[in-house]
Amino acid sequence: VKHVVLDLPARAAGRTDLWLGAGALDRLATLAADAERVLLVTERHVAATPWPGRAQAAIEKTGRPVTRTVLQPGEKHKTLASVEKLWTAWLAAGAGRDALVVGVGGGCLTDVAGFAAATFLRGVPWIAVPTTVLGMADASIGGKTGVNLAEGKNLAGALHHPRAVLADAETLTTLPDDVHADGWAEVVKAGVIGDAALLVDLEDHSDEVLAREAATVTRLLARSIRVKAAVVAADEREESRREILNFGHTVGHALEHASGHRLSHGRAVAIGMVIEARLGVELGRLPPGLPERIAATCAALGLPSTLPEDVPREAIEAALGSDKKRRRGEIRVALPEGLGQHSATPALVVPASRLLAVLE
Ligand SMILES: NC(=O)c1ccc[n+]([C@@H]2O[C@H](COP(=O)([O-])OP(=O)(O)OC[C@H]3O[C@@H](n4cnc5c(N)ncnc54)[C@H](O)[C@@H]3O)[C@@H](O)[C@H]2O)c1
Ligand SMILES: [Zn+2]
Repeated sequence: VKHVVLDLPARAAGRTDLWLGAGALDRLATLAADAERVLLVTERHVAATPWPGRAQAAIEKTGRPVTRTVLQPGEKHKTLASVEKLWTAWLAAGAGRDALVVGVGGGCLTDVAGFAAATFLRGVPWIAVPTTVLGMADASIGGKTGVNLAEGKNLAGALHHPRAVLADAETLTTLPDDVHADGWAEVVKAGVIGDAALLVDLEDHSDEVLAREAATVTRLLARSIRVKAAVVAADEREESRREILNFGHTVGHALEHASGHRLSHGRAVAIGMVIEARLGVELGRLPPGLPERIAATCAALGLPSTLPEDVPREAIEAALGSDKKRRRGEIRVALPEGLGQHSATPALVVPASRLLAVLE
């Protein structure tokens, strides 16, 4: 098990300890030792895997009492109702300010558990145990927690960095293939925006990734997490920095909407990265050949790289037109300064017509 201390912004109350690799889960046996009570949170799908039980067994080694709550899974249940269910269960268990929340699950679960921790008794510490690739590479890094509202995604939340993130590659072995592949889109993104060698590593080792080989997966995730942590840390000083994390997402979000969410987030972002990189090449910002490299890497990881025929072009254009980032017939696209080089000014504003031309 590898230990990395992430250098996150000062306002994040110090640091987040990151434990990576097979067996990282077992670190709970020491990390939970000073809590009065441990509030273990998971969801129904994850509860059917060995991982919450493994987490609970590690916590029980500390002799600390554990209260376990199982939420309903998925985006539909990333709601205030789920948060309230947690607050109620925690109060009923007699939890106080010295409690520690441990969230075991994908990004939906850790977003809810982290937000409930941020708000319970005005804030108790928490540990994220992400069990999806997206959770490890993205959702549990950077301190954003929150829920969806009827009006839209992630509209209520808090910045509350976990005290530790335990990214145990073994937990990925129970993921359905499509969920597993989806998360790797964010790792490809991290390579393109912040680590050219990570992209090469992905190109060379996609077979081991598909086989969920723990050592390879851990090495790639470590590099990917480092990119996100660096962007988040720099954002403290430069407001616009964080926007680079949106690379591939302007087009990606439009595709998700235009497909009526039949296209998953990772698949939409994979296609979005290829299209936005093509724009980057046209603008002289990215090297020729990069869109093809991204496409080949995504394909090798089981992700699409071309616009699906069954998503109407007009729907994509409409979705781009209603993009909240679009202003006065213009669209914001976040591009690195070069391959693996994010900068202080990632956002480019291009005429909508320019992006639509690349889409053709
Ligand atoms: N906080 C942030 O900064 C941030 C960043 C990116 C994304 N997110 C959020 O993350 C969420 C998406 O996360 P996700 O893709 O992990 O989705 P998810 O949490 O819904 O998990 C995907 C599916 O996999 C199942 N699952 C999870 N772990 C499993 C395991 N080990 N074995 C078997 N099944 C498992 C889940 O039950 C679910 O059905 C979105 O709500 C998004 O807004 C947050
Ligand atoms: Zn994303």
